This record gives sequence, C-alpha cells and structure tokens, in this order.
Amino acid sequence: MSDADSLKREIFEKVAEFYSLEHGEQAFIPGQTKIHYAGRVYDQREMIAMVDSVLEFWLTMGRYAEKFEEELGRFLGVSEVIFVNSGSSANLLAVATLCSKELEGHLEQGDEVITPAVTFPTTVAPLIQNGLIPVFVDCELGTYNLDVSALEEAISERTKAIFVPHTLGNPCEMDEIMRLAEKRGLFVIEDACDALGSRFDSRHVGTFGHLGTLSFYPAHHITTGEGGAVITNDRKLAKIARSIRDWGRACWCKYNTTDPNGACGRRFEWQIPGLPDTYDHRYLYTNIGYNLRPTDIQAALGVVQLAKLPGFIEKRKHNFQRLFEGLKRYEDHLILPTWSERADVSWFAFPITVKPEGPFGRQELVRWLEDARIETRLLFAGNIIKQPGYRDMKCKLVGKLENSDLVMRNSFFIGVYPGLDDARIDYVLDRFEEFFDGSW
Ligand SMILES: Cc1ncc(COP(=O)(O)O)c(C=O)c1O
Repeated sequence: MSDADSLKREIFEKVAEFYSLEHGEQAFIPGQTKIHYAGRVYDQREMIAMVDSVLEFWLTMGRYAEKFEEELGRFLGVSEVIFVNSGSSANLLAVATLCSKELEGHLEQGDEVITPAVTFPTTVAPLIQNGLIPVFVDCELGTYNLDVSALEEAISERTKAIFVPHTLGNPCEMDEIMRLAEKRGLFVIEDACDALGSRFDSRHVGTFGHLGTLSFYPAHHITTGEGGAVITNDRKLAKIARSIRDWGRACWCKYNTTDPNGACGRRFEWQIPGLPDTYDHRYLYTNIGYNLRPTDIQAALGVVQLAKLPGFIEKRKHNFQRLFEGLKRYEDHLILPTWSERADVSWFAFPITVKPEGPFGRQELVRWLEDARIETRLLFAGNIIKQPGYRDMKCKLVGKLENSDLVMRNSFFIGVYPGLDDARIDYVLDRFEEFFDGSW
C-alpha cells in the first residue's frame, strides 16, 4: 500500500471515530427531543465517501456523478438521469427542455400548462419564468393531488402540457393522466421531488411522463445536501436537458472525459454553417442554458444514500402505517390521507386536514404539537394563487379551487422519515390522544 493510501485509510478511520463521537445516535428524551418532520439519516459511510471525493479534489461532476446517475437510473428503471443542483433546478430544467427550439412541437410563450393550485412554489415558478400560462385545477382532499376529473375542462387549444406533482409522495392517477395526454398530444412532466420510490401499477412515479423530477434536499428520501435530477426514457429530451444544464452547449462529453477529441471523437472538426470552419464542439451553444450542475462531493454522498434507499422507503411506510392506525379514531375531526389501491406509496410525510366544522382549528392542534416538540409543516404553498409573489401572475383557474383554499386554511403535515423510531411515533400518538381526551 502506498503512503497516500495508508494515510487515506487513517483519515477514514478518524472520520468514523469523529462520526461516532459527534454524530452518533441521540437518546430520545420525551418532551425534550424534537420530533422532526424530516431530516438527514446518515452514518460514517456518507462522511467517508465525501472525504474521499474531497481528497480526490476533482470537485465538479466526475466519477461519483457518473456512478450516481447510473445507479439511480437502474433503481428507477429509466435510461436517462440528469443530476442537477436542486429539485427546483430540475423543475426549471424540465420546463426549459420542453421550450427548447431543438424539440419538435416545443412549448412557446403563451402556451398553457395544467397544474394543481396546491403545489410547491418552484413547480409553478418555471412556467412563469418561461412565459407559459399555468392553468390551475383544484386538488382532492385526502390525496392532495390534482383532481383528474377537472382535466378535460382545463384543456384549451393552447394547452401543451400537464405538470403533475405527486404530493407528499402519493402517486397521481397516472393511467388517466397519460391516457388524456396521449389523446390530446400533451407533454407530461411529473414532479416526483417528494416521491422517490413511490409506484403506480408497480412502475416508479416520475417515469410515466416525458420528464420526471426529483429532489435530494435533506428532507427528501435521499440527500445530496442540495440536489435533484431530471429523469426520462427519451434520449433526445435528455440530450437537450444536459445541454441546458451545462450552459446550453452542444458537447455531450462524459463528466471525466480526458480524451482531447471528446466523446464525439471529432471535437475540432465540426463544420457549422455561419461559424468559422472546424469549430471546437465544446464551445458550440445550441440552447440558451444555465449552469445547474452539482459537485462530485454531492454525488459521493448520493451514492451511499442510494444504497440505503430501499431500507429508508420501508421505514417511511412503517411509520406512516403506525400513524395511520393510531389516528384513525379521530376521523370525526380529522381528514386522514387516502391513496389509490394501485399505488405503493413511499411517503414523504403524513398529511392531516382539520375538518372545518369541528370545535377546534388547525392553529390549536399545530400549537399543541409544536409545544410538545413535534414539528409540523404546512402543505407547501397551500393555494398558490393566494401567495403574495404569485397573486399578479397571468394564469387561468378551473372552478373555484375550494379544496385548495381549505388546504391552505386547515391542512398540515408531520414526519414519517426514517430517523423516527417506534418510541418517537408512540410519543406522537400519545400527544394526539392527550389533545383529544383533554380538550375536545
Ligand atoms: C413537490 C416539490 N417540488 C419541488 C421541490 C423543490 O426541491 P428543492 O428544495 O430541492 O429545490 C420541493 C421541495 O421540497 C417539493 O416538495
């Protein structure tokens, strides 16, 4: 073993030691320990992989990024994975890809895109940023997904796409959505940022539409710190997406290509009308792009997290089921989550809506839980059209969006993430019991 290798081994051993001293398992002290809604679940292996990448000092996307994309693609059964620096970037990239002039039938300014009003802000933002018109449909209570029965009414001659989030991991009715999209010739983007590992009819969500998006923010199913991905089975779309992610360039070299002639094998021999002869392909721009690239250090973290994903998904399901069984008895007052029989849900969180006609409001229950150190979160933007930043956007509404308003007033969610063990879930259920026994 070389000096460098043995030093590296020593560093890794020290990292593991540091992990167990500083980051090891925390004892649960009821009433004191916070019950987070989500969080990073990791051990020394993630830290070692990141340190390995730092010692290599490649920094930008390299061998770890290639491995991460390949292994994520294998897990999802999808041929193309484009790793980016956030889920919001993945959404932006997916929309920008459908607007690219390189794509036949691409979206143009003023085209309409159907999407639910209950959503995450950066699912809608890229539509507006690309001059598209969001057409908002209501959500269903219980699934909090777009109401599929409203789709036909939402379609006009300007409709070009449907952008569907799988809310909190719960799969949308993808068969209905794809059937309609195919009949009307619409593009479909699935925002699967909350739904890594969820399936509909045994197939991973995010892989039904033309493009799917994922987020690896620490709250999500796996983390790369910040990070996300666009996924597709369409090579042409993937090529455009990679170009737009990478400054808009035409070059499709792999991340750690060392061949001076590039992946095309004729980097310096391209003849492009209107450009000087034999133009360098690396500096040819065929799209108006961004730089949405993550680092290889993030990818190193992702590779280790990905190997743990099946276990994480099982834990999420287990925690969800325990909360569901325990909270069923309060259905007079609470709307509990519902899901399709055809769905196998890798839950992001546990959504609850306080019934509007009851003796208490969301505020009372949320305060009670937060006072007991149980974190709660609102269902993202609620009805996005009511948010100050979005009030003046050019958009269309289908119906009155009454469920979306109710979600904004009465819904919230609590955690099911793998960092919650049975003792913590018991504690959460006990606090609910106290709330209902004591006051109402
Ligand atoms: C449904 C949905 N889409 C997009 C995003 C954005 O992802 P990111 O935070 O990685 O930008 C989130 C973030 O939580 C989300 O929940």
